[in-house]
Amino acid sequence: MSEDLRQRASDVMANAYVPYSNFKVGAALRGVSGTIYAGCNVENVAYPEGTCAEAGAIAAMVAAGETEFTEAYVIAGSPMPVTPCGGCRQKLAEFGKADVPVTMATASGVEQVMVLSELLPGAFGRAHMEG
Ligand code: THU
Repeated sequence: MSEDLRQRASDVMANAYVPYSNFKVGAALRGVSGTIYAGCNVENVAYPEGTCAEAGAIAAMVAAGETEFTEAYVIAGSPMPVTPCGGCRQKLAEFGKADVPVTMATASGVEQVMVLSELLPGAFGRAHMEG
């Protein structure tokens, strides 16, 4: 089911711009429409200005006019699956429901699946702002 997502995430990972960490990451999101959006990490000599692969995929989805995804896939050339950073967990939670699966994978094929509510338990959400 996520084979197409894995392929897109893997393909885009190759384009990651990582001269500082040398750590390539690729991410793919399946929008509600079925369209897949991909992104890679893009680093900067001013290190904090770099962006994660997940943020790139989210930006591609929103730029294309979609604001919800039903499945995510993150891949890196690491020995163990890479989990999204804290900031990306919040970014993903903005556009996916609590039960949306996020597959974290290595290039060698190890996979770990967690849903968004497991990645960001007690997430700050819109309900907290309603009075
Ligand atoms: N990185 C991602 O793109 N996604 C993750 O889920 C974890 C970390 C990037 C940020 C930085 O370019 C490099 O990996 C090392 O932290």
